[in-house]
Amino acid sequence: MTHEKIRLTQTVKGAGCAAKLAPGVLDKALCGLDLPVDPNLLVGLERADDAGVYRVSNDLALVQTLDFFPPMVDDPYSFGQIAAANALSDIYAMGGVPKTAMNIVAFPAKTMDISILRSIIEGGLDKIREAGVVLIGGHTVEDSELKYGLSVTGYIHPDRILTKKNLLIGDLLILTKPLGTGIIATAIKAGLAGQDLTDRVTLAMTTLNRDAALTMDEFPVHACTDITGFGFLGHLAEMVVDSGKGVRIRSANVPMYPEAIEWASMGLIPAGAYNNRNFRGAIVDFSSNVSQRIQDLLFDPQTSGGLLIAVAAMEAESLVTALKAKGIDTAAIVGEVISEPVERIIVE
Ligand code: CO
Ligand code: CO
Ligand code: CO
Repeated sequence: MTHEKIRLTQTVKGAGCAAKLAPGVLDKALCGLDLPVDPNLLVGLERADDAGVYRVSNDLALVQTLDFFPPMVDDPYSFGQIAAANALSDIYAMGGVPKTAMNIVAFPAKTMDISILRSIIEGGLDKIREAGVVLIGGHTVEDSELKYGLSVTGYIHPDRILTKKNLLIGDLLILTKPLGTGIIATAIKAGLAGQDLTDRVTLAMTTLNRDAALTMDEFPVHACTDITGFGFLGHLAEMVVDSGKGVRIRSANVPMYPEAIEWASMGLIPAGAYNNRNFRGAIVDFSSNVSQRIQDLLFDPQTSGGLLIAVAAMEAESLVTALKAKGIDTAAIVGEVISEPVERIIVE
């Protein structure tokens, strides 16, 4: 089916996630506010994680998340798929199984054809169905800027929650998708990316993290998050801060799109990458052989990025092999958890 394209505007900067509030803004807005307490709230706002977790019974908890953003590709169906895969990802990153979803839509009804919205929602439905999730509702508002996403609820066992915290010394870190989607989205908007690359990156962003999550479920995984708007180092920093441990990253092993590395050296870098560096750069030590463009890739805001998994060292190679057997070819061991320097990220 052919359909109209979304006209990407100048107001949309970088990848979808980069258009979020600057890092830390929500923290500041919430700072000092009295939040309700409940002993069944297992993961809440006090420890920003991929999703919140609420215990229903001894063997069942709800895992809940919400994500929406403006388009980063001009094909509405693909945008719907990407936004849905991105929203579902936070459930997978907690080790949960998504069950229900609701649409969140902001739509410029006066200036945009309704068929565009229909295609977006169809794309989202496609991913919702693939995830085995049912769409149970939603809400639409009129807005000058198009935005779409999902609120997703899933199930999780209260004893098997994979938070960002819980790195163990000696754990190896595995990343499942290549970095560079923020830079490539910027190139797409500038008309620099060819159809082949756009298709490849779109396919990666529409790929659910479900198979990666199901695979890691069979292994001694200690912590997990997904790489989105704060970039690889931003999300890794969330794992490292307050952990009492450090991390060493081997940048040569981190999967990256070669085209993104090329564009980074030309300075085609989304604003979000600079925000991420300003926010978390202080705890990162780059060794002198790590080029500026590789540093930029490591801070590049991702949309619907891969899982970052901390697993017992002895099982790390087997987990990578198992991920590859599931078609996740780009999965790689990218670093390790170390005792010192405490709460710092060394990038070699
Ligand atoms: Co997340
Ligand atoms: Co999220
Ligand atoms: Co997690």
